[in-house]
Amino acid sequence: MTMRRPKISVIGAGFVGSTCAHWAASKELGDVVLIDINGDAAKGRALDLFEASPVEGFDSTIVGGSDYAMTENSDVVIITAGLPRKPGMSRDDLLSTNAKIVKECATQSAKYSPNSVLIIVSNPLDAMCHVAMQASGFPRERVLGMAGVLDGARFRSFIAMELGVSVEDVQAFVFGGHGDTMVPMPRYVSVGGVPLMQLLPKEKIDALVQRTRQGGAEIVGLLKTGSAYYAPAASAVQMAEAIVRDKKRYLPCAVLLKGEYGVKDLFCGVVAKLGAKGLEGIPQLELNAEEKAMFDKSAGAVKELVDAMAKLGL
Ligand code: NAI
Ligand code: 2OP
Repeated sequence: MTMRRPKISVIGAGFVGSTCAHWAASKELGDVVLIDINGDAAKGRALDLFEASPVEGFDSTIVGGSDYAMTENSDVVIITAGLPRKPGMSRDDLLSTNAKIVKECATQSAKYSPNSVLIIVSNPLDAMCHVAMQASGFPRERVLGMAGVLDGARFRSFIAMELGVSVEDVQAFVFGGHGDTMVPMPRYVSVGGVPLMQLLPKEKIDALVQRTRQGGAEIVGLLKTGSAYYAPAASAVQMAEAIVRDKKRYLPCAVLLKGEYGVKDLFCGVVAKLGAKGLEGIPQLELNAEEKAMFDKSAGAVKELVDAMAKLGL
């Protein structure tokens, strides 16, 4: 009996999408399909990446184009299509343009892969998860947003830089929406098992939290023509890996909350258990009053965007 290889489709073959294809193929997560409205660009990037495989020695089929039929029976679909931020733009400025794009991508993806897990990357992230859920008709277990792994990775990087320690030993996560109100959680940070609060004074930790909140804008300010893509793509692929390899990982992701943490019917970032079925559980952490207030504020910012989309008829 031959085992079927997992199939990962990436919609949007721009900076984030093509880098997702790169990480997914080089980890041999499965066969990769790259789709873009500009089919030739997707086809060219897929071919170029495939031509790297004899050199690098990874064994994945990588194809690209604009026809969603190529994505049929994907296990995971990563949606990265949409405009990125330019300097001075907030993620929310992208709302109406990207809502239309994500609606189309999620509708087409769901049609060809009705059993897939969708990982949404397009911004504004939490609002785009609502769009994708509605367009696909999928249950919440199979619509996940990528933000927390990225924001957590930025927090982990800044902590490692500050302490002069290996990133390997820094565990940290970020709760809330993927916006300026995101909630890095220093109380839960561990450096090789040692609580961060015992290693740095409050002012230093506050500065790292602030840099994490501005982490996306810091990269936009430097690149000037677009936003980050290496760390975002690595983060989306880590989620895809947890799913296709049924790893049962605890990763911070945007999920539709149904009363967890006192929030109902809104996508918001929390630690989630990811495995073959997608979302397989939401461990309930204890938040103190300050953390809960920040989380509620962040959920409120997501709600504003969801309400704004409803007003715009999106
Ligand atoms: P990019 O401009 O390099 O790529 C976007 C691609 O989407 C382009 O190739 C474009 O042709 C394609 N596209 C546009 N409309 C489409 C449609 N209807 N169907 C298929 N493809 C379509 O942008 P980049 O840097 O790759 O960013 C993509 C998105 O990801 C942006 O919205 C960005 O804000 C978001 N993002 C989110 C992050 C997160 O943490 N959730 C992190 C980084 C980026
Ligand atoms: C980021 O955080 C812009 O959301 C994107 O890099």
